Amino acid sequence: MKTAFVNIDSLVTINAQGAHEKIGAAMRDVGEIRNGAIVFDDVIRWIGPSSEVDAYLDADTELVDCSGKTVMPGFVDSHTHMVFAGSRSHEFARRLAGATYAEIAAEGGGILTTMRAVRDADVESLLDVGDALLTSALNHGTTTAEIKSGYGLDTASELRLLEAIGELQRGHEARVLGTFLGAHAVPPEWKHDPEGYVNCVINDILPRVAEQGIATFCDVFVDAGFFTAEQGERVLRAGIAHGLRPKIHADEIALVGASQMAARVGAISADHLEHSTLAEITALRDAGVVCTLLPGTAYTLGLPFPDARTMIDNNAIVCLATDCNPGSSFSENMQLMLSLACMNMKMSIEEALVAATLHGARALNLAAHLGSLEVGKWADLVVYDVPSYKDVVYHFGVNHVWSVWVGGNEVV
Ligand code: NIG
Ligand code: FE
Repeated sequence: MKTAFVNIDSLVTINAQGAHEKIGAAMRDVGEIRNGAIVFDDVIRWIGPSSEVDAYLDADTELVDCSGKTVMPGFVDSHTHMVFAGSRSHEFARRLAGATYAEIAAEGGGILTTMRAVRDADVESLLDVGDALLTSALNHGTTTAEIKSGYGLDTASELRLLEAIGELQRGHEARVLGTFLGAHAVPPEWKHDPEGYVNCVINDILPRVAEQGIATFCDVFVDAGFFTAEQGERVLRAGIAHGLRPKIHADEIALVGASQMAARVGAISADHLEHSTLAEITALRDAGVVCTLLPGTAYTLGLPFPDARTMIDNNAIVCLATDCNPGSSFSENMQLMLSLACMNMKMSIEEALVAATLHGARALNLAAHLGSLEVGKWADLVVYDVPSYKDVVYHFGVNHVWSVWVGGNEVV
């Protein structure tokens, strides 16, 4: 059975026209149709002005009056760590009192605080945390989310995290993709032998992860105090050999060659990029690597915001995601990320919307099916209770979602 949204005040298609990315000035065109309509079952069947919709309705088509509303493609949040255990609110309070993220990490806190909680947690409790955050993300307009492991840092715990991610993949209304992030931090038992841990990731954990079959991507945290570009490259190349596409946490704390390495291995995306300069940006652009920016992290850690303007003006593929995690960006709300991006990274509302939809899909290799409203694409739609897409960013800090549809089914 088909559904039709009619009388939509502001229908944002993204106007991709089959393209998987929109670069430079094209990012500022979101293809808004005023008083639009969209007809869909599991995929989109027709899009156009409301005045022409009648010819595309069947006798049993369900009509939804969307006057006063905005309709956009669901957000694709391509970078999250939503499955974890425990809380880091005490470390957050310490940072407000002056401690830095790097200091807390060097003392064995930060990622390792969450690691200890995860090692003590069973799949069920990991699933509960992930399910609650993913449901909240869906309620805020995210219809697809990537979720990383990386808080287990040994074979059994990494597999448990991915098992919970797999459960969400099978059971949740939102679409979920999994990423193996074994090289996220050096765990305490390998403290004096980081090289040994890298070999353990490559030779012990990765083959088991590949066999388990839940992860699509392999990610590494290449930065000062974490892994070197050389170590990260070995992990990512091993991941490629196991069929996992590379992603990377790059240029967040310092410039250690992470972006250049991402370009070299053909990563699908390089994420963070708070410290990237034109040299890093150019390398990523030339290699077609998506630049995934995480404004929640710069906001939470007091880092410089990534230089989105230089990226867009130099034709890089700019994407926005939450980085939802207990340490550096504890928010699953993509509407808020749009506001942070516009206010702190000099992005226009239109650029931010393309970054959070089409380019999120591009960063997950799903742009053929998701990220814009086009005939034949999957019907992942969000209706907002505002008369213009601009209001979603302008009126910030509240949830404007009215209903959410995944694969043509109403889920919120
Ligand atoms: O993307 N940068 C590295 N990893 C995460 C932080 C994880 C944490 O602090 O728990 C990030 O910000
Ligand atoms: Fe991250």
